Order: sequence, then C-alpha cells, then structure tokens
Amino acid sequence: MSEQSPVKIRVEKAKKSFIQKSGGAVEAIRELTFDVADNEYVAIVGPTGAGKSVLFDCLLGLKSLDGGRITIDGEPVEKFIRKKGRIARIFQEDRLLPWLTATDNVALGLQIQGVPEAERRERAREWLRAVGLGTFTEALPSEMSGGMRQRTNIARAFATGPEIILLDEAFSALDEITAMRLRSDFRALARRQKMTFLIVTHSIDEAIYLGTRILVFGAPARLVHQIAVPEGASDSPAEVDRIRSEIRHWISVSGRDASTAA
Ligand SMILES: Nc1ncnc2c1ncn2[C@@H]1O[C@H](COP(=O)(O)OP(=O)(O)OP(=O)(O)O)[C@@H](O)[C@H]1O
Ligand SMILES: [Mg+2]
Repeated sequence: MSEQSPVKIRVEKAKKSFIQKSGGAVEAIRELTFDVADNEYVAIVGPTGAGKSVLFDCLLGLKSLDGGRITIDGEPVEKFIRKKGRIARIFQEDRLLPWLTATDNVALGLQIQGVPEAERRERAREWLRAVGLGTFTEALPSEMSGGMRQRTNIARAFATGPEIILLDEAFSALDEITAMRLRSDFRALARRQKMTFLIVTHSIDEAIYLGTRILVFGAPARLVHQIAVPEGASDSPAEVDRIRSEIRHWISVSGRDASTAA
C-alpha cells in the first residue's frame, strides 16, 4: 500500500456469524482487519466459504457485522452509502434485467441517482461504447453472449461514477480468452477513472494481474498473509512464479489452520 494515499476502506476486527435453520452457528468472518488505500487495487484469495461474499455484503451495507467495524473515508459504511452510486458490485453471474435493453440496464443506477432520462441514456450509451458494445446498445440480454452481458455489467458498474467497485468472481464464468480481454479492459477503465477496487477471485493469476496487493484469507475470513504486487509484475514470468508460489504456500497453510481451528 502506498504510504501517501489516505485510507479509503478500513475493516477493524470484523466479526459475522449466522444461525442456520438447523440451529447450528456458522462463523463467516473472524477478527478480520485490513486497510485499503485510496486508488488501491486489492485482490482477495481464500478458500470457498471463507466469508468473502459476506464481507462484500457488509461493505455494501446489505448485512451488518456482529462485532468490529467497517469505515469508508472514515465514516461508517451506512453513512457512506447514503449517497447512491458510490460503491458498485460486479458479480460472477449475470444480474441484468432480461426485459431491459443494454442501455436501460446500464441506466438503472443513474435513474436511482435521479439523473434525467435523456442524460442517463446518453451516459449509458457512452459506457457501452467504452466497453466495446457501441453497436449493441439496444440489444436485450438474451441477444448477447455471456462475455457481452458481463461487459454490460461492467458498464453498469462504472456508469454511476463509483469511488469503489467490488468484483466477486466477476470473470470466473467466462472462457479464458474472453476473461483475459475483460480483465484488461476493466483494468484500463479503472485506471482512467481513478478509483479503488477489491476483487475476490479463485484465480491466482487474475489476482496478480489485477491486484496491486493480494490478501490471502483463511476460513472463517481473517487475514493470513498479504503480498504487494510490484508494478509490471504480471509481465514478468519470474515475478509471477514467485508471487504464485508465495500465495499457494499461504493458501495451504491457511487451509490447515482452518481445519484445526474449527
Ligand atoms: N444468509 C446466510 N445464512 C446463513 N449462512 C450464511 C449466509 N450467507 C453466508 N452464509 C455462510 O457464511 C459462510 C461464508 O459464505 P460466503 O458466501 O461469504 O463464502 P465465500 O468466501 O464467498 O465462498 P465462495 O468462494 O465459495 O464464494 C458460509 O459458510 C456460508 O454458508
Ligand atoms: Mg463468494
């Protein structure tokens, strides 16, 4: 993390458990603490069920913690999100509304922000052009490929001018060639906008490509290790190998830790 950049997101001793219908308790987040600097790109890797998606729900104010706290720009999350469109999420699965065109899907968030119709349609079309869908602005989701639908989701996330984007396995459902193109386009757009993003991924190479720092989570969610990704590391096979082995080591250690801690 850069020394000069102010803290954008601070997660302090966060805790979250669920009571299942069967009556048993499931611990999703355990004493999780980390900071994300403004304009930082953080990739999170960790085992399945490690509370990564639950953490994103908490960052979006959709779930509340049982203990600890999350602040953004020094304010509690609930206050930060009161102004709409400051934080966006891109999921693995397609969340487009099937009866709306690409333009109307992208314009939805702008509608919630109260942007007038003509302006929101124009901005939506601009974002669709920026993700390479300039000739599909009036297409319905059923008329687009999976990659095109995910491009539309990316346009939708950027359209409201968010300060933070959360990507939850956003490229995992795509074939590798499409995923590579979308990652690269996403990275270029994020750099252009000056924003902060967090990406949860099961792909170590994706974490190295998109992250300026990688957090390794154990299950339940807690910070097991973190690695800075030097600028240009993803272009150096030797650097990628070094970071990949370090992450693999910590994932294997965190797995053993989780099984003994349960
Ligand atoms: N609404 C809920 N009710 C009960 N348990 C829940 C709920 N949401 C999540 N959990 C539990 O919390 C734990 C963490 O879930 P979460 O979806 O955050 O995992 P994850 O790290 O995103 O996993 P994956 O990599 O598979 O997506 C799991 O054990 C899950 O069963
Ligand atoms: Mg998840």
